[in-house]
Amino acid sequence: MSHFSLVCTRCAQAHSPSMTTLGCGSCGAPLDVLYESTPDANQSRVVPPMPFHAESPPISLGEGNTPIVPLDATGRTLGLRDLKAKLEYLNPTGSFKDRGTATMMSVAAELGVDAVAEDSSGNAGASVAAYAARAGIEAHIFAPVSAPQAKMQQIGVYGAHTHAIEGPREAATEAAVAFCRENSLVYASHNLSPSFLEGTKTFAYEIASQMAGALPDHVVIPVGNGSLFIGAWKGFHGLVAAGVLDRAPKLHAIQAEAVMPVAAAFAGREWTPQPGAATIAGGIAVGDPPRKQQVLDVLRASGGVSIAVAEAAIASWHARLANTEGIYCEPTSAAAFAGLELLIEAGHVASHDSVLVAVTGFGLKDTPPTNNR
Ligand SMILES: Cc1ncc(COP(=O)(O)O)c(C=O)c1O
Ligand SMILES: [Zn+2]
Repeated sequence: MSHFSLVCTRCAQAHSPSMTTLGCGSCGAPLDVLYESTPDANQSRVVPPMPFHAESPPISLGEGNTPIVPLDATGRTLGLRDLKAKLEYLNPTGSFKDRGTATMMSVAAELGVDAVAEDSSGNAGASVAAYAARAGIEAHIFAPVSAPQAKMQQIGVYGAHTHAIEGPREAATEAAVAFCRENSLVYASHNLSPSFLEGTKTFAYEIASQMAGALPDHVVIPVGNGSLFIGAWKGFHGLVAAGVLDRAPKLHAIQAEAVMPVAAAFAGREWTPQPGAATIAGGIAVGDPPRKQQVLDVLRASGGVSIAVAEAAIASWHARLANTEGIYCEPTSAAAFAGLELLIEAGHVASHDSVLVAVTGFGLKDTPPTNNR
């Protein structure tokens, strides 16, 4: 007997828990975890509910509990009273993905899965490769040939089978799906897996406990598929529902102008990928995110906005964060700060508001001069 079921995000149809059920049997939309009971306020403060049975994650590398640091110099130049960053790049494989992967691979281990495949721009692949190694699970990681060399090396060192796929990011997804079908493998997609989203909820639980009494007014997140964005909302929303928090922050979703399906849909505009349009923010270059509607729902529910930023602004913030704050992040993460600047200019964030930015990935994994995008 399981303590949760999987529920369709569009038509609400319930499905039995299984790692191979990644979409609704009726309408095809992505699924979410639905727990049978809501935890009380005391339980919620300490640990979010998880879709496996152990008390603590069976497959863990010590992910989470990342520091929150003030960015006073940057706050001053932006005219902000209170600007902080949560350094997600200090997770075990160098990105926030470890939160979701720890949960997804704990579920896989509990179910006795012995091999998985996954497609990724690099970070999720590195994360799945690491946790698979720890769990003794074979991993096949599909990534675009344009994925940064450092990420591909990292995946390989963990012992995963790497598959470099020609063409756009979507081609890696198609190749992974086909490989799973042909080899009867579990498709451990961080974009579709409901357990991955359960893991990223811990981002919000930590903010609530680390910033008790001083929850930020705004949280700014770079968004491709939205796994941190949706998970963060699930966490905040769950804490409000359990009576631990009396409000949730506004969550803002930042994209690159070159690949902006969410920002365009938020603005009510049509958007199609432009041939040749590329971004140095490879982690958010997702042309057709399967959970786009969920991201839009979270934007509406939290009162946040989605905007897209220019390449020059991403590059400039990448350097600026390093040389004024000592924060060496991926260009993808720097996009969030370029987005914050626009949010302030547009009046969505006021000078007296408090802001927290998720710094999602470490700089050494994707260094602009050597990446080959
Ligand atoms: C460093 C970094 N930040 C942000 C993201 C965006 O995450 P998501 O696609 O879940 O929205 C990614 C995804 O690969 C990433 O690697
Ligand atoms: Zn459905």
